[in-house]
Amino acid sequence: MMSLLVLLVAAYLLGSIPFAIVTSKLFGLEDPRKYGSGNPGATNVLRSGNKGAAVLTLVGDCLKGWLAVWAASRMGFSPTEAALAGLAAFLGHVFTIFLRFNGGKGVATALGVLAGVDGRIAILCALVWLAVAFTTRYSSAAALSAAVAAPLAGLLFLGPQASVIVLLVMAAVLVWRHAPNIQRLRAGTEGKIGGGKKPKA
Ligand code: G3P
Repeated sequence: MMSLLVLLVAAYLLGSIPFAIVTSKLFGLEDPRKYGSGNPGATNVLRSGNKGAAVLTLVGDCLKGWLAVWAASRMGFSPTEAALAGLAAFLGHVFTIFLRFNGGKGVATALGVLAGVDGRIAILCALVWLAVAFTTRYSSAAALSAAVAAPLAGLLFLGPQASVIVLLVMAAVLVWRHAPNIQRLRAGTEGKIGGGKKPKA
């Protein structure tokens, strides 16, 4: 069987694929790092006005998180090791080697990881995201709420397991990556979902 270290490196490289950049290139769009929030993620690609590219970014980023966990499980790794593979993919997205370790915020990839760990956690977090997004129209507020919900949902559905600690670490990194969004939310300058290409903050 593949060693855990090789699995984690492979998952990291998989997570490092920056779908926001790939799809933007495919659709002939501007690099998402140059407009809006500057984040290479689905929310920011949506600010380009191209919904197809945003959906493709969301699906790609989500799938790589799910695939890392699913493949690890299929290879016979334990649930905790599979969750760690998901965390490696998530960290690959956030600190991608392909963008000089300057990647995205990890929301879609985290959702994919949650789906791989336990579908019920993913569904609950997706519902939290949707509820907050529809109410506030802030993608970041929705992501932050879902991040808080993830380890709690993990505890609820899985009990006190090591995988829950992995989810907690993922949530903490996700919240930390949203520090500029938190500042903008507090200042009332955060861009809403589907808003145009406001100047990069
Ligand atoms: O998925 C990232 C989202 O939570 C925030 O994106 O572009 O508004 O910083 P953005």
